[in-house]
Amino acid sequence: MSEQLHPDIESIVLSEQDIKDIVARLGAEISIDYADKNPLIVAVLRGAFVFMADLVRAVTVPCTVDFMAVSSYGTGVKSSGEVRIVKDLDTKIEGRHVIIAEDILDSGLTLSYLMRLLEERHPASIRICAFSVKDVPGKKPAVAPTYVGTHVADNFIVGYGLDYAEHYRNLPYVGILKPEVYS
Ligand code: PRP
Repeated sequence: MSEQLHPDIESIVLSEQDIKDIVARLGAEISIDYADKNPLIVAVLRGAFVFMADLVRAVTVPCTVDFMAVSSYGTGVKSSGEVRIVKDLDTKIEGRHVIIAEDILDSGLTLSYLMRLLEERHPASIRICAFSVKDVPGKKPAVAPTYVGTHVADNFIVGYGLDYAEHYRNLPYVGILKPEVYS
C-alpha cells in the first residue's frame, strides 16, 4: 500500500501492513492463551491507546478493557520509574487476569513500577503485551514482556500512538522523525 509520507518523517520503520500483521499475531496468541479467562486488557495513556484499540479487535475471546494515566514525579526520579497515578483503573483486578498493552518498552521502568503496584491488588495473573521493544545496545528493559510485537532500533520514532511533543500520534505508521524537527 502506498502511504503519503509526512514531511517531518525521514523514513518508515513499520508500515500500516507491518502493524496489521503484528497486531493480528498478538491478538491470536492472546486469544489462545486467554480463552475462558476473560482477561482485563489495560492501556496506560496516552501512547498505548492506538495499539490498544487495534489489539482488542484482534482478540477473539471475551475480554474487558480499562485505562490508567500516570505522570512521572519529575526529572529527578524519572530513572526510578516512580509515577503518580493520575487516573486509576475503574475495575477491581483481584482474581482477574490482567494484560497491560504497551506501545513501546524502552527502559521498562514505568511498567516495572506499575506492575509492582498492581500486584498488590492480587490479580490472578499480570502480563505485558508490548507492541514494540526498543533495542538499546547494552541495555535490557526492567520488565520482560510475555508478548512482543516487534523490536525497533534506538531511533527517534513517532506514529501509531508515539509522540514528539504530543504530535504525530495519529500517523498510521511508525517512522523516524527528521532530526531537524527536534534539534
Ligand atoms: C512512553 C511510552 C511508554 C513509556 C516507555 O510514554 O508510551 O509508555 O514511555 O518508557 P520506559 O519503558 O522507559 O518506561 P511517555 O512517558 O512518553 O507518555 P505517553 O504514553 O503519554 O507518550
